[in-house]
Amino acid sequence: MAGRIPQSFIDELLARTDIVDLIDGFVPLKKMGKDFKACCPFHDEKTPSFTVSQNKQFYHCFGCGANGTAISFLMEYSHLEFLEAIEEMANKAGLTIPEEVGQPRADGNLSELYELLELVVRFYCKQLREHRQTDRAVDYLKNRGISGEVAKQFELGYAPAGWDNLIQALGTSDAAQQRLARTGMIIKRDNGGYYDRFRDRIMFPIRDPRGRVIGFGGRVLDDDTPKYLNSPETAIYHKGRELYGLYQARRANKDLQRLYVVEGYMDVIALAQYGISNAVASLGTATTREHLERLFRATPQVVFCFDGDQAGARAATRAMETALPLLEEGRQVFFKFLPEGQDPDDYIRQKGTKAFQNLSDLTPLSDYMINIAKDGIDLSSVEGRSLFLKNIRPRLELIPEGVIKQLNVQHIEKITGLSADKIDIRTKSKDQPLPRRRPLYKSDSGKMTNTSWLIAMLLRQPDLALLVEKPEILTQSKEPGVDTLHKMIVLIQEIPRITTGQILERWRESRLNNRLHELSSTEILDDENINLSNDFLHRIDTIAAEIKTATRKTGETNLADASEEHKAYLRNLQK
Ligand code: UTP
Ligand code: MN
Repeated sequence: MAGRIPQSFIDELLARTDIVDLIDGFVPLKKMGKDFKACCPFHDEKTPSFTVSQNKQFYHCFGCGANGTAISFLMEYSHLEFLEAIEEMANKAGLTIPEEVGQPRADGNLSELYELLELVVRFYCKQLREHRQTDRAVDYLKNRGISGEVAKQFELGYAPAGWDNLIQALGTSDAAQQRLARTGMIIKRDNGGYYDRFRDRIMFPIRDPRGRVIGFGGRVLDDDTPKYLNSPETAIYHKGRELYGLYQARRANKDLQRLYVVEGYMDVIALAQYGISNAVASLGTATTREHLERLFRATPQVVFCFDGDQAGARAATRAMETALPLLEEGRQVFFKFLPEGQDPDDYIRQKGTKAFQNLSDLTPLSDYMINIAKDGIDLSSVEGRSLFLKNIRPRLELIPEGVIKQLNVQHIEKITGLSADKIDIRTKSKDQPLPRRRPLYKSDSGKMTNTSWLIAMLLRQPDLALLVEKPEILTQSKEPGVDTLHKMIVLIQEIPRITTGQILERWRESRLNNRLHELSSTEILDDENINLSNDFLHRIDTIAAEIKTATRKTGETNLADASEEHKAYLRNLQK
């Protein structure tokens, strides 16, 4: 399993790779002014708004808002996961990827959580093989028709009944218990101590696309509730983002031509057992945009296959709405609808692999969109057609400008007999598509906090940080973002020639990542009337002054606790 890649290596890689050369190899760039430009590879346009900055080592499209570092470009353009992008760049640069040993990163030691969860996986697997009460668990799996091979492939385990099996095994010190609690596997009691979260359940480890265990699902062996218990949100588990089975699917298939998205753990496992090794499940949540972006990084074709019930139908409608803004050439979305009352697990066991793979019963997303809009409507009447248009318009508007949208409009022209202008879809001109992906930050200093401004300035011109003489004063501020500003200043002072791209890569896994990308695309800074250095220092001073005022106030309230002499001194200060 790949360990964490040392930051110094990522820096080295970014230093050896010029983003202009890298992108130019895929999308020929033209020098315009100080930047390089091309028609954006991420949306359809005729005049170039895709801009690559050699200084910043950062790209940004003014049309669709796509932006990022050299690593991000490879991930987006070549549909690679982070580690693969790193590998590809390392190959090109002739570097070997080292494994990190020792030192944790500044953002908290996450690797120790991954390592701990790896031990938890092994513990539960061992219990399934050896625990004195495991017969019930094994019988349960057998009754559900799960083979030993597939149980092994998905590392199914058993969390025995009892409140402290995991604690006894892996939480033998206070520090170990605290770590286990950070993974969400044990829970703190109000009156001290901890207890196991998962008890008497079949355990499903969840791995991220890089193969690291990030959490678990646990199923009861009977009709108890909740049927499934999942890891809570932790520093490493975010359920709106993860897809159960993606790691296994990518391991089993060199080239993923298609991915099925199903609802449940058991669906993924049953399909795998029947030879369909390209299914993933969203973990008890609706399909999110992040899910879809991750899916499209792995495959060009996504087939949603939800349960044949009302909840499944609702999930399909929502998945459609989430997918519409992400449609572009080369991406396909289909739906496979199952017979009433069946989920993919039931279906494949009953009908077999061939039936499941039968492509003729796939519904393309656009047909599904139209079917829903015309449901119960008589299209032969004028009223019916107008109602249909009213239903479909908001959905059409979600599709980005481009071929896919044009094809859909043509299709609707045929159905309604109306020409596109009569259909009256709010289309922007072809070169100014609706923003998608991350919204383009329309920079407006009025709406930006001082701190956001400062960060945006640093991302534009990192060496401004060298002007700050005493960055440590910033650590006393409780204002949101100031800690990030401080970290960034210190970082740049340590590595004065760092590029924007290298700075951004340090925040890749932080929840601030998107925000920092927005800030690095801020345009207002090009205003020539601003003397950047002066403005920057002035804004830093403002924060420092705010901190002083705040500390003085605290001083006042604490006056009662201070010694007489000290009080007199403080009183003088506050005059
Ligand atoms: P299902 O109830 O359809 O799951 O829920 P399933 O996989 O078919 O379950 P089996 O066949 O009865 O074992 C779909 C998914 O929703 C989440 C789980 O991720 C589950 O796989 N879920 C469901 C929960 O998180 N908690 C629950 O109590 C139920
Ligand atoms: Mn099921």
